[in-house]
Amino acid sequence: MLNTTPTLYDDVAEVLISEEQIQQKIAEIGARICTDFAGEQILIVAVLKGALLFLADLIRHIDLPLAIDFLAVSSYGAGTESSGVVRILKDLDETIEHQNVIIVEDIVDSGRTLDYLLRMLRQRNPATLHVCTLLDKRERREIDVPIDYVGFEVPDAFVVGYGLDYAEHYRQLPFIGVLKPEIYE
Ligand code: IMP
Ligand code: MG
Repeated sequence: MLNTTPTLYDDVAEVLISEEQIQQKIAEIGARICTDFAGEQILIVAVLKGALLFLADLIRHIDLPLAIDFLAVSSYGAGTESSGVVRILKDLDETIEHQNVIIVEDIVDSGRTLDYLLRMLRQRNPATLHVCTLLDKRERREIDVPIDYVGFEVPDAFVVGYGLDYAEHYRQLPFIGVLKPEIYE
């Protein structure tokens, strides 16, 4: 008998980036970070909650001494647009002074969140400060932000999966996809 139970997968219109493509790319980024920071220690600052899956897979490809810390941010306002006003919901546990910091993000869209975080963290005097994002929605950029490691460039569409949510759902999908339009209605 056919299984007709509705699943999250039924809400997905299109898979933009497959699980295999994501994993392959993460292995490449991890290898680059290992080369770039050979002989050093690094501090990964992951931005909750979207970067969670990316972080977990990425660090398994980084064969260097590393520590992890978390920031939780939210931009004021609901919906699928970043308002540009960033609020820190959870700050780092430790100081970053004199450390090699790599910010790990799920996606850079307008660039406002990252711009805010870069300004904030620079003031704390890290030895180096780099940015690693899984996705780059470059077409939508409003503020020019330096990005050192990019997984994939994505088109101007709202994407979910692999950590990214729509109203807190779909984070657990192992791929990056686009939802069916009726989901947003
Ligand atoms: P920005 O400040 O406009 O660059 O937005 C960054 C944040 O908005 C990301 O860290 C995500 O949390 C969220 N975001 C932007 N685009 C998307 C998307 O397509 N899907 C899910 N979240 C998104
Ligand atoms: Mg985010």
